[in-house]
Amino acid sequence: MQNFNELSRQFSAFFDHQQFYGSPQTLYDPVNYFLTIGGKRIRPVLCLMGNQLFGNINPDAWEVAAAIELFHNFTLIHDDIMDKAPLRRGKETVHIKYGESTALLAGDVLLIKAYEALNRIDKNLLHRILSLFNETATQVCEGQQLDMDFEKRTDVTYDEYLNMITLKTSVLIAASLKMGGILGGGSLGNLELLYEAGKKIGLAFQVQDDYLDAFGNTEKFGKQIGGDIKSNKKTFLLIRALETANPAQKEELDQLLQIDREDKVESILKLYKDCKIDQWALELKEQFLNDALTHFDDMAVVSKRKQPLKDLATFLVKREH
Ligand code: IPE
Ligand code: IPE
Ligand code: MG
Ligand code: MG
Ligand code: MG
Repeated sequence: MQNFNELSRQFSAFFDHQQFYGSPQTLYDPVNYFLTIGGKRIRPVLCLMGNQLFGNINPDAWEVAAAIELFHNFTLIHDDIMDKAPLRRGKETVHIKYGESTALLAGDVLLIKAYEALNRIDKNLLHRILSLFNETATQVCEGQQLDMDFEKRTDVTYDEYLNMITLKTSVLIAASLKMGGILGGGSLGNLELLYEAGKKIGLAFQVQDDYLDAFGNTEKFGKQIGGDIKSNKKTFLLIRALETANPAQKEELDQLLQIDREDKVESILKLYKDCKIDQWALELKEQFLNDALTHFDDMAVVSKRKQPLKDLATFLVKREH
């Protein structure tokens, strides 16, 4: 059984030599720029770990893992346009460096390259993998649209938030695990548990992402801090603050959400602290992590095979980047 670091190294060896050369360079330079600035590569490793739960790594798992990472990178380039984000992975975002139109196309190329990678797998597996891939990709678009719709609303509930982050983030993490499980020959019951565990890991992952967007460190996180506050994103921090604020805090928060003030980020961060959002973040992550670990426990697989996944899930909720 290989752990995150080993699988990540092996995946990078496979993935990093696939640079996409072509003409015009004005399109392929941005594509390669984004791929070479890295990322944690969590989803492809989850795919490989999902496979490893049930057996040796299927050679097709490398292609599927690559397709997932390419798709993820496509969503990030487009997400950064939508979120007007200046920084990603500690570097300029593609649309800032090369312009929005080129960033759209660079994202499109990555999406197409993802399907090219899938098209290389065994034809007996392709239908099942492609169905799940397409269902997931559609859900990510739905989640991303909800994320933007919510920017304009102030009455978003916690349940609506959970549904939105399930779609934009969790289903891709869940599908990465499940596709690996399919390639490893997992039973239907185990695959279902794996998918549910992935959804919970995804929720904890996005909660941590939202937390770091407010309280992280730009150097480590690699993204602009306060970006979600600037865009009026409906994160669990804001939803919780609106719920628990006293009347004076609530009025200040409402005001801050309506007009762009110079001190917006700073003032909202202070309100978050006063509303003890830290504690709430910890409780949420613990709840989702425990749910995920329970799903792993329920799987009919020898426990030593589950350990790398349990370790990774536990690490992800504490990550700082
Ligand atoms: C960022 O994902 C998008 C979210 C779902 C929060 P990652 O944090 O996995 O991004 P990279 O690939 O490591 O940069
Ligand atoms: C990301 O949500 C979801 C997708 C990219 C599909 P965020 O907008 O919070 O991700 P970051 O923080 O920009 O990475
Ligand atoms: Mg974003
Ligand atoms: Mg976004
Ligand atoms: Mg974020």
